[in-house]
Amino acid sequence: MDKNQAVAENNKAFQSGVYPDENGHFGPYGGRYVGETLMPALLELEAAYNKYLSDPGFQEEFRALLTHYTGRPTPLFHAKRLSAHLGGAQIYLKREDLTHTGAHKINNTLGQALLAKYMGKKKVIAETGAGQHGVATATVAALFGMECKVFMGTEDVRRQAPNVRRMELLGAEVVPVASGTGTLKDAMNEALRYWVGAVEDTFYIIGSVAGPHPYPVMVREFQKVIGQEARGQILEMAGRLPDMLVACVGGGSNAMGLFFPFAEDESVEMVGVEAAGKGVHTDKHAATLGKGTVGVLHGSKSYVLQDENGQITEAHSVSAGLDYPGVGPEHSMFKDFGRARYESITDTQALDAFKTLCLQEGIIPALESAHAMAQAMIEAKKMGTDKIIVVNLSGRGDKDLGIVDEYLK
Ligand SMILES: Cc1ncc(COP(=O)(O)O)c(C=O)c1O
Repeated sequence: MDKNQAVAENNKAFQSGVYPDENGHFGPYGGRYVGETLMPALLELEAAYNKYLSDPGFQEEFRALLTHYTGRPTPLFHAKRLSAHLGGAQIYLKREDLTHTGAHKINNTLGQALLAKYMGKKKVIAETGAGQHGVATATVAALFGMECKVFMGTEDVRRQAPNVRRMELLGAEVVPVASGTGTLKDAMNEALRYWVGAVEDTFYIIGSVAGPHPYPVMVREFQKVIGQEARGQILEMAGRLPDMLVACVGGGSNAMGLFFPFAEDESVEMVGVEAAGKGVHTDKHAATLGKGTVGVLHGSKSYVLQDENGQITEAHSVSAGLDYPGVGPEHSMFKDFGRARYESITDTQALDAFKTLCLQEGIIPALESAHAMAQAMIEAKKMGTDKIIVVNLSGRGDKDLGIVDEYLK
C-alpha cells in the first residue's frame, strides 16, 4: 500500500467505527485507567450508552430537544467583511454561540442528562472550567428535575463569576475546589472522587471528549451534530466541501464535534488550536498536544502536560475553558496519524482576534473561540480568496467581558 492509500484507509477507519475498540482505545490512547470502585459505574454507563444509542425513542427525544430546546440547527455564517479585511480565504462561522446557554456544551449535556433519565438517575454532577459546561449541566438538570452539583476550581469561580451566578439561579450547587491551581483539572479530580462515593444514584456528566471510556466516544457522538450540520450547510451554500476546518481544543469536544463527520473527506484539512498562553517557550501555556508527552490523566491515556517525574503540571490560558493539561484521546490519535494539525495561539493573539471579530462582524466570541479565530485569520491570509475555511465559534463572549476589560485597560 502506498502512502496515499494508507492515509485514505486510515481516514475511512476514523469514521467507520473501528475507533475506539471495545475497550475504548483510539490506537494507543484512551482506555479506562481507574480504580476498581469506578469500574461498575463505567460498565453500567457503557451498557446504557450502547443500548440507547440505537434506541429510536431515545434518539427521537434527543433530536427533538436539540431542535426545540437548544435551537438547532445553528447557522453557518459567511463572514464576508472579515474575509475581505484579511484578503484571503472565505471564512464561514459555525454559530454554536447561538445555542441556548451560549456554547456547544449544551449538545452534550442534553445527551448525557437524557441518558441519566433513561437510566433512572435523579442526581447529576459535573466539573467545569469556563463555567459553560456547568451552566449547560445546571440547565438540563433543571429541565429534567434532577439534583445538580457542579465542581469548579476557586480560580475559575473568580474568573467566571457570571456563570457561577447563572448556575445558582438554575438551582445547582456550585462546589468550589481549592486544591492544586483551583482550575479545571482540580475540579475534575474532585468530581471523580465524589462520584466514587455516590455512583448508586448519581450520573457524572463529563464536559469534554476526555475521561475514561465510554466518555470520549459518547461525548463525540453527542457533539458530532456540529460537523454534520456544517457539512450539509457548506455544501448547500458554497456547493463544495471546505478546504479547512478550524476549532479550539481544550479537552477537544467542540473540535471533535466539527471534525469527525469530515474525517473521510481527505481534501479537508483539520486544524485544532490549543492555548499557548504566555508562549510555548514559557511554562505558562496549555499546549498539550504541542508540548505534552504521553501519560494518563483522569482515567484516560493521551498527551498530557507533565514533568520528568510524571507529575501533571499546571496549564495556563487567559480562557478558562482551554487551560486543561490533558486532551481527548481521539485527538492524540488524529495528531499521530496526521489527520489533524495542532497549532497554538497566545493570550494576546486571542484577545486581538476577539477584538477583530467584534469590530468586523458584530459578534462577541468566547475567548476559547477567539483562539480558533486567531488561527483561522493566520491561515486565511496564506490562502487564495477562492478557498474556504469553516471555523467553529464554540461559544459567546459575555462571560469573558471582565477579563477582556482588564486587558484593554
Ligand atoms: C465556549 C467554549 N469553547 C471551547 C471550550 C473548550 O472545550 P472543548 O475543547 O471540549 O470544546 C469551552 C470549555 O469550557 C468553552 O466554554
